Amino acid sequence: MSTSIADILNGKRVLLCVGGGIAAYKALEVVRRLRAAGAEVQVAMTAGAQRFVAPLSFQALSGRTVRTSLWDESAEAAMGHIELARWAQQVLIAPATADLLAKLAHGFAGDLVTTLCLATTAPIAVAPAMNHCMWRHPATRANIALLQQRGVRVIGPEDGLLAEGESGPGRLSEPESIVAALASGSATHGGGRDLAGVRMVVTAGPTYEDLDPVRYLGNRSSGKMGFAIAASAARRGAEVALIAGPVHLDTPVGVQRMNVRSARQMREAVFAAMPADIYVGTAAVADFAPLAIAPQKIKKTAGGEGLKLELVRTPDILAEVAKREDTGLKLVVGFAAETDDVARYAKQKLADKHLDLIVANRVGVPGCGFESDNNAMIAFWPEGEKAFSEAPKARLAEELIDLILERLQA
Ligand code: CTP
Repeated sequence: MSTSIADILNGKRVLLCVGGGIAAYKALEVVRRLRAAGAEVQVAMTAGAQRFVAPLSFQALSGRTVRTSLWDESAEAAMGHIELARWAQQVLIAPATADLLAKLAHGFAGDLVTTLCLATTAPIAVAPAMNHCMWRHPATRANIALLQQRGVRVIGPEDGLLAEGESGPGRLSEPESIVAALASGSATHGGGRDLAGVRMVVTAGPTYEDLDPVRYLGNRSSGKMGFAIAASAARRGAEVALIAGPVHLDTPVGVQRMNVRSARQMREAVFAAMPADIYVGTAAVADFAPLAIAPQKIKKTAGGEGLKLELVRTPDILAEVAKREDTGLKLVVGFAAETDDVARYAKQKLADKHLDLIVANRVGVPGCGFESDNNAMIAFWPEGEKAFSEAPKARLAEELIDLILERLQA
């Protein structure tokens, strides 16, 4: 979309509720970015949040007295909490702790933040942050699903190093991504559920082509881009089938996932998931597979000084899908990972495979593309192109969904 974050957030009244987690310090940067985009920001903090960051820091950045208690007589006299709930045009909870999510899901209103959330009619977005075991716990998953059913937007969390030194999903999204997601959600129709009624099939990750019971041919795709697209589409109301190669990623909330290993299995799962409206092929599908899988481990002595492998072509799933026979597809989106001459190869694939859109990125650049959290991409369609500058994959996924929607409606 050509509208900037500032175009969308300028003058918007944002109520930022800060939960009690170590990531509360990152909420300061969220305030700074919202203010820079022209938003008015009122901060409310839970008791826990005040143990991590002093309200005065938020006051300095937001330019408003921070609300900290339901029982503050002078604050209530100035603007009562119900009035404040009405004042908000957007509520953002960052960081949203497991405890806060549970309270919101079940309608508790025992303190200022939960009361404001229950009293407001403004759209609510939550940016969770917690330990990865807490995030993965069925109780938290159920609470998140419940909140999403009610139209609450969930931004993140991201996968990465957590405060306690462990790694996994649970890290608060970067302030830049939170603000961008907030802007993109505000810009879309129906409180961000602009893909309601649309079915999308997404492939993600690598495929593994087995050589023998212990070895395979694979590639370095992490699946992160495809998972981010699936998460974003589901959040925006699409019914999403995610066909995943071997990756270590959690299933995004609201997404139906099928795990596969080889290109052949991926092809079968893709066609089993049809009919659909949109196909997004982010998977790095192996182009070749061993002619035969050895039933026993191939011994070192099998090939003497060297070993020749006989490989055969795998089915080109994207090209087959793009023929659209019995698929109902209105939009077919391919990805192209190239090490050089990105635009030329991508445009060629767009034409050769009869795609509606192709998204290309350069691989082999440190910090971007495969295995990375960031990406920079350029999309081509028959009549145009759009560049996406380097950003976290979650944010690019949002922007890409905007483009997909535009192309679907074109
Ligand atoms: N793709 C596919 N099935 C294959 C190979 C690729 O569906 N057997 C899809 C990928 O999911 C991606 C697109 O095709 O959306 C481009 O993949 P890429 O490997 O870049 O292109 P190829 O067509 O395989 O061409 P080359 O490897 O020669 O660049």
